[in-house]
Amino acid sequence: MADRLPAVLVLAAGEGTRMRSKALPKVLHGFAGRSLLGHVVAAASGLDADNTVVVVGHRRDEVTAHLTGIAPSATPVVQAEQHGTGHAVRLALEAVPADAGGTVVVLPGDTPLLTGATLAALVAEHESAGAAATLLTSVVDDPTGYGRVIRGADGAVARVVEHKDATDDERQVAEIATSVYAFDHALLRDAVGRLSTDNAQGEEYLPDVIGILAGAGHRIAAVIAPAAETAGVNDRVQLAAAHRLYNTRLLEAHMRSGVTVVDPLTTWVDVDVRIEPDVTLWPSVELSDCRIGEGAEIGPQTSLTRTEVGPRSRLTRTVAIEACVGADVTTGPYAYLRPGTVLADGVHVGTYVELKKADVGEGTKIPHLSYVGDATIGEHTNIGAATVFVNYDGVEKHHTVIGNHVRGGADNMFVAPVEVGDGAYTAAGSIITQDVPPGAMAVARAPQRNVRGWVARKRPGTAAAEAAARAADDKKD
Ligand code: UD1
Ligand code: CA
Repeated sequence: MADRLPAVLVLAAGEGTRMRSKALPKVLHGFAGRSLLGHVVAAASGLDADNTVVVVGHRRDEVTAHLTGIAPSATPVVQAEQHGTGHAVRLALEAVPADAGGTVVVLPGDTPLLTGATLAALVAEHESAGAAATLLTSVVDDPTGYGRVIRGADGAVARVVEHKDATDDERQVAEIATSVYAFDHALLRDAVGRLSTDNAQGEEYLPDVIGILAGAGHRIAAVIAPAAETAGVNDRVQLAAAHRLYNTRLLEAHMRSGVTVVDPLTTWVDVDVRIEPDVTLWPSVELSDCRIGEGAEIGPQTSLTRTEVGPRSRLTRTVAIEACVGADVTTGPYAYLRPGTVLADGVHVGTYVELKKADVGEGTKIPHLSYVGDATIGEHTNIGAATVFVNYDGVEKHHTVIGNHVRGGADNMFVAPVEVGDGAYTAAGSIITQDVPPGAMAVARAPQRNVRGWVARKRPGTAAAEAAARAADDKKD
């Protein structure tokens, strides 16, 4: 980049009433793992400006705290009362060295679809044209509400007129100002000092800078960007539409790098997802902050959060949060991997199985209807159907250790803390409260007692009694 970029200014002081949100300020709403503001700051980061200045106003404590989290080097500037976008820029420039020269880029805080490439193209055009200001514009189907770009007979941009101040003729113009600009720093400083509030909204309009500079004979350039990239998010309808577009963009990038996405309409990924080639995503999959290894198959109906999946593993109808899954693992249908679940290579977790803080060794199977909490399980062990790791005594959680090559019977309770040695067996229906030595068979259940003739005595005349009588007769024959 030829010129230095002393600052990117992000305008995020507005109220965002149309979001109708009590929980969050508008720019902290978001999608795909980033806030609206986070998306804008990420797009701007490629410009590598000396300062990122974010103008905050409404709910500024929350916005500032968030900004500290996502971009600690950014500078928040308070605009206590919102007297317009020009006023916001005037305040923001107070945080930028006045004599820094170069190009200043201005962005609204609510345009999450803007790309770094478009911003770079804006700055490149600005510099190669030697312009005082360069606008990013879009041609839209319905320009209602936007500032219109008014060009002179020679096609050069002369000024921007806000919808509320525009004549009927001006309102016919379909090219709109997107609130994204590159300015000559010194000329911008001068021009924002000369803005009036003599307009329909009684505000200092940043777009008026264009008319001021053009009127003084300076060159104004423009770059036209697709409307889909410059759309602002003002309400939750636009939020959903922007999310959909952004998701499509992410999925297309994954598909181009070798990921099969069977149903893009029901597949949602966020920016922090890394997917290796030859992964298949089946319908209804959500991935946030995940890493998926080569050849894995995810879905259908699977949601993974902060989870790592090794190569060739197949997760079907699985929900996982903060889990680490090795290679060649199978889970589901209907598996729930909660935080701290670590599955080594070749593990099988079957239907209706829930795990939490469970470290499961290579090749071990937990096939059916079980809860495994706070446990270490060795390699090539089989946990019987309907087993519960009883980890909670009502006050504290306790740990269970199961060795290698253990054969757990069906319907076991492992009452923690308890340890089962390598190669041990446990009988079906056992409640294991004491440690089992390696190689032992643990039987922990009441011996069976058959009360002969009970049905004939206690339930005479029932179908059961008749069936029993017939069985007795058959035996006699
Ligand atoms: C603005 C532009 C309009 C453009 C449109 C594109 C002005 C006067 N109008 O209109 O030309 O077509 O964006 O979406 O600039 N903000 C502040 N402080 C303020 C006022 C606004 O920080 O005092 C911030 C808002 O939080 C928002 C951005 O500036 O992020 C734009 O403000 P908004 O009120 O949404 O302007 P529009 O009416 O959409
Ligand atoms: Ca807006």
